[in-house]
Formats: sequence, structure tokens, C-alpha cells
Amino acid sequence: MNPAMTAAAPLAETSGQARCPYLVVRDPDTVRDVLHRPADFSPANALVAVTTLAGPALRVLQRVGFALPPVLASNDTDSHAGIRKVVAGFFTPATVAAMEPRIRELAQEAARNAADRLDASGQVDLVQAVAAFPPAVVMLELLGLPVRDLPDLKRWGLDSMELFWGWPDEDRQLELAHSAADFYVWLRKLVAEAVAAPGRNLFKSLAGHGLSTPELCSLGYFLLIAGQETTTQLISTTLFRLLEGSAPVTWTDADTEGGSRAMVRHVLATESSVPTWRRVAAHETKLGDGLIPAGTEILLELSGNRITAPAPAMAAQAARPGQTRGPGLVFGSGIHRCLGAKLAELEAAIVVQEAALALPEVLLQNYRPDWIRLLSFQAPRTVTVESRE
Ligand code: HEM
Repeated sequence: MNPAMTAAAPLAETSGQARCPYLVVRDPDTVRDVLHRPADFSPANALVAVTTLAGPALRVLQRVGFALPPVLASNDTDSHAGIRKVVAGFFTPATVAAMEPRIRELAQEAARNAADRLDASGQVDLVQAVAAFPPAVVMLELLGLPVRDLPDLKRWGLDSMELFWGWPDEDRQLELAHSAADFYVWLRKLVAEAVAAPGRNLFKSLAGHGLSTPELCSLGYFLLIAGQETTTQLISTTLFRLLEGSAPVTWTDADTEGGSRAMVRHVLATESSVPTWRRVAAHETKLGDGLIPAGTEILLELSGNRITAPAPAMAAQAARPGQTRGPGLVFGSGIHRCLGAKLAELEAAIVVQEAALALPEVLLQNYRPDWIRLLSFQAPRTVTVESRE
């Protein structure tokens, strides 16, 4: 087997004896090769639950008609290109650039609120205060959708990530399935409303392109999570590493545009919020020197993480010439490359910069917070700070 691949990496720190059911591909050139051969390596498994869901959880989902037909991220048919074009129309470089003042306004407001909370109570969790909401507001505004129910949306997003990319036991699956069902019912109402609303919005444009209601809900389910929670998590890790003092950029330097941008890029390269992504071999095919059997599930390493390798090993790999995991791969590559890459980097840099400007004299209160550690998502759950004096 090619040394850049291994099928025996530990599944996760918490999974005891479990072995990884994926062929893990680490070498950046091989990862790129897989991503650029969608006919050989299909994205059809992108949204398949990592843990097989048990009957009770499945019944909760079935009762509300929950379904995720392939539309965008998991679509390996010819319809992908046309749908992607419609969605991309909402995230053009010009649209994203024009959004910058609004992003800064939201980031400043959040940073001010965080400073007020710090004054009032002596501590503040920056995940909730600055990282959580600006990406959600920006995404909904860009998509032409109403900005409402944000705390629910944040909770549903995290729960669905755990349901589909985590290792929940049966009891937890049931809780998470109820949350996913609530999200789906909310989404179906939103889709119906949006399709009939005046003006331009994502669901109306896609309905015009011929998508059915289940397809619109499937796309909404993915995008309303992928389009904001991943950015929240990138901001959370960036804030944590800055305040922990383990980063090449200091908290003081992060208050400039260049400093915060460099730090966001560093986190993307070393421990992005989406450190891995999946593909499945559509048929028997060659990869490097190896022959990959049809149906092989593949886990592509896009950035450092604690799922497929311990962090120090990743650092060593990343340091080898030609092995750097820069933002070149962290947003995927090829026909499914992330449509929100520019937006996510911009948002993260602005939110981090405004937080560093508004909170110059803070100390990290908890150096060992609980982390979200799912197959394809990672971030500290809290970044709690207190005043320096
Ligand atoms: C730090 C934040 C983000 C990261 C790390 C990230 C990462 C990724 C990755 C790894 C993929 C899979 C690419 C592939 O299969 O080749 C992806 C797909 C996608 N992302 Fe992101 N993403 C982020 C934020 C966003 C945002 C903010 C949006 C939109 C507002 C977005 C929209 C999408 C879409 C629509 C796809 C599917 C594209 C397709 O299948 O054609 N993402 N993202």
C-alpha cells in the first residue's frame, strides 16, 4: 500500500478499540488526485451518517419526511454543475467583497457586546459572544433569507454535525434525531415561504432551476450548517490558539488586518474546522501504486487534526518540503471545491481582528476546554476569557 495512505489509523481518541473503516489519504498530492477524479472517487458518501443510526432515531426522522437526496456536496451526477452555478451566484467574489462593511459592522457589534459582558461579569465566552452569530447573519443575508431563530439554528447545526459526523450512542442519537427533525420541519416552512416571497433568494432561484421541495430542503440542510458553523469553528480555534499563546501571531498583533489574516491562514493549514472530507471509490481504480476496490470509503486529510493522526505527527508531516497543507486543500479542490472559501476567510479575519481590538487586556481562563471532535469538524466549544488585572 502507498505509504501516503493507511487504513489502520485510530478512528478517534475516544473510540477505544474501534478501528477506522476508511482508507485514510494524507499525502496532499494524492488527496488532490482523489478530489480531481470525481468519476473514480464519488462524493456520494459526503453526507452519510458516520455511525449507523438505530431504528428509534430513524423513525423520528422518517416521521417528518427527513431525506437528503444528492443535490450539491454529495451529488455525483451531471445535474451538479448547473445547481452549483445557481448557488455560486450568491457567493460571487464581487458579492463577498461588497459584504465586507456589513461583516465588519456585525463583528464590531459582537466585540462591543463581549467587552460589555466582560465588564459586567468579569468573564465572557468568546465562542458565544463573537464567533457564533456573525457568520449565520451574513450567510442568511447573502442568500436572501430572513434572519431569524438564530439560537435554534446554531443548536440544530451542532446537533446535526454530531448526528452525521459523530459517534453518538443510541440514546444520544434519539436526542439528536429530534433536533434534526425540528430543524427539517423549520426548513420546510422556510423553503415554502422563500419560494413564494418577492425578490431574489436561494430557494426561489433553485426552484426556478427545477429543484423539488425535498431537494431544496436537502440543500438547505447542508448549506445552513456548512455556510456558518464551520466559520464559527474556524474563528473559535483561531481565538483559542491566539489567547493560548501557542501561535506564530500574538493577540496584540491580531488586531491588525495582516495579523488576523495570517493567523486565520495558520489555523486553516494546521487545524482547520473541516480537517477531513470523504469520498467513495465508484469502481475499482488505481491510486498511486495501489488498486482501490469499488466501494472503498476514503477519508481525505485536508488539514492537521486529532482524528487521523496525533497533532505532533501532523506538524512533522506538514513541515516536509512539498507537504504543506496550505489553504490550497482545506476547502477541497476540483468541481466540489467550497463555494464559501473567500467568505469564510474574510469573516474569520474580521471577527478575530475586531475581537482583539475591543478586548486588548484579556487572559484565557480555561486552557483545557471541551472540544468538538467529529470525523470532519473540530473546534473548542468555549473560549472563556477574563480581564488581565
Ligand atoms: C472555515 C469555513 C469552511 C470550511 C473549512 C469549508 C470547507 C469545505 C470543504 C472541505 C468542502 C468539500 C469540498 C470538496 O468536496 O472538494 C466544502 C464544500 C462546500 N462548502 Fe464549505 N467550508 C467553509 C465554509 C463555507 C461557507 C461559509 C459556505 C457558504 C456560505 C460554504 C459552502 C460550501 C458549499 C456550497 C460546498 C459544496 C460545493 C459543491 O459540492 O459543489 N462553505 N466546504
